[in-house]
Amino acid sequence: MSSEKETNKSWGGRFSEATDTFVARFTASVDFDQRLYAQDIQGSIAHATMLASVGVLTEEEKDQIIEGLSDIKAEIEAGQFAWSVELEDVHMNIEAALTRRIGITGKKLHTGRSRNDQVATDIRLYLRDQIDVIAAELTRLQKGVLALAEKEAETIMPGFTHLQTAQPVTFGHHLMAWYEMLNRDYGRLMDCRKRANQSPLGAAALAGTSYPINRELSSELLGFSQPTRNSLDSVSDRDFAIEFSAFAALLLTHMSRASEELVLWTSAQFNFIELPDRFCTGSSIMPQKKNPDVPELVRGKSGRVNGNLVSLLTLMKSQPLAYNKDNQEDKEPLFDSVDTVRDCLRAFADMVPAIVANRDVMYEAAKRGFSTATDLADYLVRKGIPFRDSHEIVGSAVAKGVAEKRDLSDMSLEELQAFSPEIQADVFDVLTLEGSVAARAHLGGTAPAQVRAAIADAKNALDQR
Ligand code: ARG
Repeated sequence: MSSEKETNKSWGGRFSEATDTFVARFTASVDFDQRLYAQDIQGSIAHATMLASVGVLTEEEKDQIIEGLSDIKAEIEAGQFAWSVELEDVHMNIEAALTRRIGITGKKLHTGRSRNDQVATDIRLYLRDQIDVIAAELTRLQKGVLALAEKEAETIMPGFTHLQTAQPVTFGHHLMAWYEMLNRDYGRLMDCRKRANQSPLGAAALAGTSYPINRELSSELLGFSQPTRNSLDSVSDRDFAIEFSAFAALLLTHMSRASEELVLWTSAQFNFIELPDRFCTGSSIMPQKKNPDVPELVRGKSGRVNGNLVSLLTLMKSQPLAYNKDNQEDKEPLFDSVDTVRDCLRAFADMVPAIVANRDVMYEAAKRGFSTATDLADYLVRKGIPFRDSHEIVGSAVAKGVAEKRDLSDMSLEELQAFSPEIQADVFDVLTLEGSVAARAHLGGTAPAQVRAAIADAKNALDQR
């Protein structure tokens, strides 16, 4: 009867006219949620198995359902499945296909379940899978950063504040700063995984179900750590999607900052590093150009990932409990952040270890900016001069260097003594770039020995993941 009205077969019973064709398309999600097909089938198999274990389905019915679903999965993966917008979403497409295949038993699969707990289950399973892929890529990137940091542990470059040369640092130390940022991102991702990895299955539409279900079993079958605790919350909660999006936004913020540095450093003005040609593109009009497109694009993509976070926060902020159709809008921003993070991590993990440092250029740049002025001031303090006075003395010496275009370390002892008689021959130990970085030998400092220690600690930590 319902087929005569051409209403949706899953819920057409109480309807007297078919859905407007535009409305059917407008309300459908199958174009984008079909990517959840594997998790949808995985969730249905667990649900059917649980139903059989409590006697709601017979063993035979359960086996028929599992076989049918497995065949459908193969059909989808072979590209032979015909998705239908009339069937609205991935869940109803698969359920209808099951019934076409195995007949009346297919209609029993949805016992004690609603699309509301089904979709929440599917997204959690999907996100958990993607988190594991992303965690592996993030670890690969961190290893790439460590490999480059190890190579460049002794390489001296200017450290900046206000993008003005401040004090010399080692390139390895700078890279280990990137490592720390990424390490916090990894921690956030693992934290997000804990809350995503819980089973909402059994919450049904919103209130639970009157069947004697075993939520612990379906949770366990799906590899979740535990069932969620409240049925209303289970179908309405999308915190896991927001938490992932927040992780993604912050990760991309970090990668965007690193990208900005790479773009600056590859410019002719800095010329600190070379990116291999395979990560760059040319210009159709200017033959000399080699553009750092990969870092530029990563910097640009941070925008959409931030947008996705704001989309999801805004999506949820006014929804009364429990499920609302609004929630269908959770998928595209989440999928987009997942895809963007995966691509950006892949590009960076391939590119970073292939960065080549122009060590001489970095060294000369550190020398040009009076980066050891603080070291001279500290030296005078050690000779008994109050810091404010030594700051003044060094300022005068820098003024002379600026006027004569010479670094402090290029001045003779006599010239330096004109600024303070406390200056002795040992001043050159601190005025050199090597002396300056080596002196910062405490935990977290830029001395090559400390950088190597930080790398060793990081390697140990990564080995334990
Ligand atoms: N396509 C829907 C979504 O993505 C599935 C759940 C629909 N539930 C409902 N009661 N209309 O959220």
